[in-house]
Amino acid sequence: MPGISDVQDSNRLGGAASNLLLDSFGRYAAKLRVSVTDRCNFRCHFCMPDKPVWLDERSVLSFEEIARVTAILATMGIRRVRLSGGEPLVRPGVEGLVRMLTALEGIEAVSMTTNGALLKEKAKALKENGLSGITVSLHSLRPEMYAQITGTKNMLDRVLDGIREAKAAGLFPLKINCVVTRGCNDSEILDFAMLAYEGDVTVRFIEYMPFDGTKFWERGLVVSGREIVEKVASRYDLVHLERQYGDTSRKYRFKDGSKGEIGVITSMTEPFCGDCDRIRLKADGKVVPCLFSTDEYDLRSLLRNGTADDEIASFLRKAFWLKSEGVESMMKRKVELKHVRPMHTIGG
Ligand code: 5AD
Ligand code: SF4
Repeated sequence: MPGISDVQDSNRLGGAASNLLLDSFGRYAAKLRVSVTDRCNFRCHFCMPDKPVWLDERSVLSFEEIARVTAILATMGIRRVRLSGGEPLVRPGVEGLVRMLTALEGIEAVSMTTNGALLKEKAKALKENGLSGITVSLHSLRPEMYAQITGTKNMLDRVLDGIREAKAAGLFPLKINCVVTRGCNDSEILDFAMLAYEGDVTVRFIEYMPFDGTKFWERGLVVSGREIVEKVASRYDLVHLERQYGDTSRKYRFKDGSKGEIGVITSMTEPFCGDCDRIRLKADGKVVPCLFSTDEYDLRSLLRNGTADDEIASFLRKAFWLKSEGVESMMKRKVELKHVRPMHTIGG
């Protein structure tokens, strides 16, 4: 496996588009996901270890550092940013970061993925600071199961209130993410479909990925997107929507009567690595080109030792050039998928 010093900066490949972030498989990056903190007020079993060890404050990138990296990436074709965590809303003043990022030239949309616990209080401020969409993780509609999955008490109503507040504040597109695990919440698929149908929202079912903190992921616990869609289609007539370049999900609308949508993120059964256009920045300043690869490239030390923007850009191009082909090729090569990293350190 080549290291970052072994590769040439991809803009030496020439051509007018050479400033783009390209990888060695011909893909380019257009979307950035930033984990703004590894901390979270929840303990979802598929994301967190039992006893998480948090990054210390000094190792976490400041808003200014995140904005600097994003500004550099925007000159290389990044157009959309999604903030995640841990839980992004536990980082004080995160709406200020939203404002900083939306002001950057080239950035067209800044959105967020949240567990929704603090959304009721924050929705208005997020909207006022320019957030253009929100995804709320909601893995059960039954209070007891919700508590069991998230390791919280009495939170479901708060989160549902938060979703209502986000709607009232005009935070659209509004999506619900539901990670489905066998024997846990797979009996609720039709309840979530009804939520999409009656609430005019997008519900995205996510296949369980090997990013849990406790390393108990196994194939048998994955409920496939195909199975989920079949279940939904047993009650609702669905229309398959055309996939856009870079989409992570297969999308369906209801044939009649609802503006709601259903999506399935089939990372474990039918992934879309071929046009993956994402690059990730962890809270500790590591650049992660592929979610399923353990390869990470430390940008923080460069940000803190006076390195100029053009050298940072060159580092990012080299890191992205090394992006792995992805989980699709790992599955084709029958590479056994094991735990990669806990999700709270990367944010999806
Ligand atoms: N597999 C799939 N999705 C996960 N998420 C967290 N852990 C996992 C996992 N192991 C979800 C979060 C959030 C999204 C970014 O990923 O709940 O909605
Ligand atoms: Fe927190 Fe989201 Fe992880 Fe749950 S899945 S512990 S809400 S970061």
